[in-house]
Amino acid sequence: MGFLSVLSMAHKLIVERVSPGDTVVDATCGNGVDTRFLAELVGARGTVYAFDIQAQALQRTSERLAPLAAAGKLPLLHLVQDSHAAMAAYVAMPPQGVMAAMVAPPAASGSRLMGPRLVGPAGAEAARLAESLAAESLSWAAAGDVAAANGSRAEYAAAQHSSKAAAVMFNLGYLPGADADPAVITKTDSTLAALDAALTLLRPGGIITIVVYPGHVGGELEAASVENWASALPQLTAQAVLYRMAQKPDSPYLIAVEKK
Ligand SMILES: C[S@@+](CC[C@H](N)C(=O)[O-])C[C@H]1O[C@@H](n2cnc3c(N)ncnc32)[C@H](O)[C@@H]1O
Repeated sequence: MGFLSVLSMAHKLIVERVSPGDTVVDATCGNGVDTRFLAELVGARGTVYAFDIQAQALQRTSERLAPLAAAGKLPLLHLVQDSHAAMAAYVAMPPQGVMAAMVAPPAASGSRLMGPRLVGPAGAEAARLAESLAAESLSWAAAGDVAAANGSRAEYAAAQHSSKAAAVMFNLGYLPGADADPAVITKTDSTLAALDAALTLLRPGGIITIVVYPGHVGGELEAASVENWASALPQLTAQAVLYRMAQKPDSPYLIAVEKK
């Protein structure tokens, strides 16, 4: 039968802790596999932040999410072209009134409340991303339905942002694919800064999953640093586990942290 792969184990740990309507973060969206997984978990009432430093990754992610958009099942989605080290600035938890005002729909019907907010790429890049998400299918009417199911629009908006993140996923290394540049790779310093930010953003009981790649050039040092970071967390703050194939020291492995 065999054991679960590290990616499947990461998904399993997240499924057990994330519910529809939650706020979640993909810190390295790459091809969008994990972003789509998170988007399906939190559903149309949820919020997903997806970070990558490469426009190509955001494009691939938006294409992978297009079927959800077409089916009206896209969460409030923030595609952010920036380092995950800056995630706290994006995954902000402003006072409820502020956020309610930010997402409150304009009076005119046909305007979009739930369309993807594109942070980072501008102009043509943003337009391309919106196009692949078939953004016009995210109608104000659909958003109104969601709001109605949750009370007033202001309550809905506040609920989206009053709770902290339920999960933050990291899949370190480089963007897979023949046309991607393997030299664009996660770096230890920014990874550790992002992990600190993620822990702050996480709600109690929330989880961080980190898939590390000791077999990549530079990956061994990054993996060891992440493991040290997790091991040094005070037990009153968080609990940390490793999931690793004991006979395959070069294979990717999983570090997971649950906030107390
Ligand atoms: C292994 S891939 C992620 C795979 C992705 N989770 C998926 O499901 O397809 C790693 C990604 O991290 C991105 N990356 C590298 N440094 C980053 C940084 N500082 N902040 C955010 N993303 C970064 C790379 O561009 C690459 O797309």
